[in-house]
Amino acid sequence: MGRLTAWIHERVPVSAGQLAELTNEPVPHHLKRWWFCLGGTPAYLFVVQIVTGILLAMYYQPAPSTAYESIRYITQEATFGWLVRSMHKWAATLMIAAVILHQMRVYFTGAYRRPRELNWVIGMCLLMCTLLTGFTGYSLVFEQLSYWGATVAANISDAVPLVGHAAKQMLLGGDEYNARTLSRFYILHAAVLPATIVLLVICHIAQVRLHGVTEFHDEHEPSPGPRYFNFFPDHVLSELMIGLVLMIVLCALSTVLPAAMGPKADPLTTPEVIKPEWFFYVSFRWLKLFSLTSAVISTLFIVATMFVWPWIDSLLRRITGIEEISVFIGIVATFLLIGLTVWEAVVAH
Ligand code: HEM
Repeated sequence: MGRLTAWIHERVPVSAGQLAELTNEPVPHHLKRWWFCLGGTPAYLFVVQIVTGILLAMYYQPAPSTAYESIRYITQEATFGWLVRSMHKWAATLMIAAVILHQMRVYFTGAYRRPRELNWVIGMCLLMCTLLTGFTGYSLVFEQLSYWGATVAANISDAVPLVGHAAKQMLLGGDEYNARTLSRFYILHAAVLPATIVLLVICHIAQVRLHGVTEFHDEHEPSPGPRYFNFFPDHVLSELMIGLVLMIVLCALSTVLPAAMGPKADPLTTPEVIKPEWFFYVSFRWLKLFSLTSAVISTLFIVATMFVWPWIDSLLRRITGIEEISVFIGIVATFLLIGLTVWEAVVAH
């Protein structure tokens, strides 16, 4: 054992002291509460996505003539294919939910404020990439809904001023959904977006390490007590517990509600009801409330506002003198988000 350690140490000259320094980052006491640790949750689920995605890629064939059949083979014939596909699908759903919840906790605790504005912007890029990965993945199945969903999304992109038409052509590989479209979705879904997410997560965590996690002082805490605890092993153990619960939930959902298949895409028959995945319900309902151009322009405006929110928030606080103004705006936005999502979920059109 001693010789092995010496062999490793000669090649990787890191001392136990240096390792301890790297891992013993002091973590503020409020991170003992699980909802403050939600940032680790999308990271866990992303790893599940990568592993199950690699397994699915061994069978998936991204062409209109083969895509649906290859998914049918995975679901009905490949050994444990149904489980791998279901875990991939449920992990995507949970990852998007986890990113939204993490963003909400960061928002409502004001953890994006100076000097962490850039990490908020990196987070917004992560949110966009996560949603796009969900969208492109949904489109790979080549079912009626995914085919028509992609067609509707491409037409929405067409309404974006200046760059919209070029974006639509780049996405579809032409003016309409064609034989090249699926391979474009596939390369985005399986390579470009995951690689971008990995790079962004590295920058995101580097920022968290450089600034440390935001400190909060809980007035209701009975005794002041120690304000910090060690990242290793205390925080790592909390994250492991969260990861374990997450894996149990993921396996249970995948087994009880496995991924199903809808009818195969038919470019000649528009389905009576076209619905995107749940995470786009809010934008879909918004589109139905206004004309296409005003819905697209207002959506772009909202997303741009979200990107620069830390600076808008600081400006609003200075002008109004109300420190909690972002909380009030956040509550209204959350009700809108939930309201529009539920509305789209319960009505057919
Ligand atoms: C794949 C997606 C994401 C991953 C893996 C991730 C991961 C993390 C982790 C591990 C932390 C440390 C504290 C914690 O656990 O809460 C963190 C903090 C933070 N995240 Fe994220 N995050 C993601 C998305 C986002 C999004 C969408 C936003 C907002 C737009 C965001 C903004 C922030 C900010 C500002 C902090 C610092 C919070 C503080 O200092 O208390 N993140 N993130």
